[in-house]
Amino acid sequence: MTMRDQHPLTRAPGALYEAIAERVLAQIRDGTFAPGEKLPSVREIAATFEVSVNTAVQSYRHLERLEVVDVRPRQGYFVRALAEDDEPSDDHSRAPVRISLSEHVLRLMEPHARKDMVRLGIALPAPRPGALRRFNRVLTDTARRLPMESWDYMHPDGHLPLRRQLAKRTLGFENPAGVDDTLITSGCMEALWLSLRAVSRPGDVIAVESPTYYGVLLMLGTNDRKVLEIATREDTGIDLDVLEQAMATRRIKACVVSGNAQNPLGFTMPEASKRRLAELAGRYDVPVIENDVWGGTVFDAAQRMPVKAFDAHGAVLYCSSFSKVLVPGGRVGWAMPGRYSRRFRELKRFSTIAAPSLMQLTLASWLQRNLHEEHLDVLRRDIRRQVEDMRRLILAAFPSGTRVRRPSGGCVLWVHLPRGVDGRRLTSDAQAAGVHVFPGEVFSAQGRYRDRIRINAGNPVSPEVREAVVALGQLAGGC
Ligand SMILES: Cc1ncc(COP(=O)(O)O)c(C=O)c1O
Repeated sequence: MTMRDQHPLTRAPGALYEAIAERVLAQIRDGTFAPGEKLPSVREIAATFEVSVNTAVQSYRHLERLEVVDVRPRQGYFVRALAEDDEPSDDHSRAPVRISLSEHVLRLMEPHARKDMVRLGIALPAPRPGALRRFNRVLTDTARRLPMESWDYMHPDGHLPLRRQLAKRTLGFENPAGVDDTLITSGCMEALWLSLRAVSRPGDVIAVESPTYYGVLLMLGTNDRKVLEIATREDTGIDLDVLEQAMATRRIKACVVSGNAQNPLGFTMPEASKRRLAELAGRYDVPVIENDVWGGTVFDAAQRMPVKAFDAHGAVLYCSSFSKVLVPGGRVGWAMPGRYSRRFRELKRFSTIAAPSLMQLTLASWLQRNLHEEHLDVLRRDIRRQVEDMRRLILAAFPSGTRVRRPSGGCVLWVHLPRGVDGRRLTSDAQAAGVHVFPGEVFSAQGRYRDRIRINAGNPVSPEVREAVVALGQLAGGC
């Protein structure tokens, strides 16, 4: 297809060179081409749009007249640096836009990638250098030993030895998962999303903890599920009496719950509550989608069993991944969808086809060699200490009246700000000061928790982190 067939501007009155200039301009305006950056050569423009060199030159002349590009002899065309006056003064000067939770959250996530930010936003333990080295050795060794398998697509259900390893780890469950019931996904998010689709349709009501991980709220919102937020205690989890009533009256189609080291509250449900939740799901035939992505980080071994461990009816769809405990960029997770396995498997085939092959092969080897348990022991010990250091630091640096509970696992702290301190304002002031945290309101579909923020304590408390928390505390004092 050529530019002439394709570009609507060419059908409108006006010249072709203007239409080309328009496209280049659009990419300059949205930042694809940065100020000072070299633009494609005249020949490249001519080839891309299937026009003559003459037309390409005309396009650039047009952009020169508009004062957005400069020509440098024998070098080509460059984006002109913005004059001071061209910079948008602030966000208020832009036309009002409807901010949905997804846009809001995406904006909040962006600073994570910025090198100049102190990263206390995204919930993630910093990698341990020793573990990273060991893992990378297994990875390169796997790529060398199994070049064809690493290159190829995997079976959509996932790499069988990896599934076996994961199924073996459920031996202590009252109803252990079989290898057929263990399916590999692209991270925990895909496991949650396929579980949701396996048990519900658009328009259905899904119960969630309040507060809950914003990713779950986004998943429900963008897929037209309605959300019923259920009060959740910071020590024991979701209110099971309220949840039971919603199940018994058929108000909900399913629920999404974390029994272990819940994000953002950090609680782990007592075993009796996990047992009761699994039993309710079976009795009322309302599936529980269990998000156990933080399960491996629960500090106390006696509390680590997931709700799935007590699932006598196959009514719990268990979801987890290696993201928080080992390698977030590996994008490997898994699901044990119980009696929904068939539907889940069908959906998986038409979702991402298969999770990354090299990563699945590496993880199978990592588990087979018993490196995982050893790694988890060190990780838990480290993050437990970091979380406590960070908690103490916050309590010392923030204004009096600030409260932070000690979590039972994971690496996030849910900070209750003193009366009158606004979490949203604090988050944006912090961002301007180079510190990334999340405001409490994104953990609720109804914008609750304006007086909370979530702080990631996944990094050791270095002088830089200490300074950032002290600055946050000062900002909180002024909010
Ligand atoms: C509670 C919770 N669930 C799911 C995820 C995403 O998991 P994954 O990266 O494996 O898709 C996160 C990441 O922050 C999380 O905290």
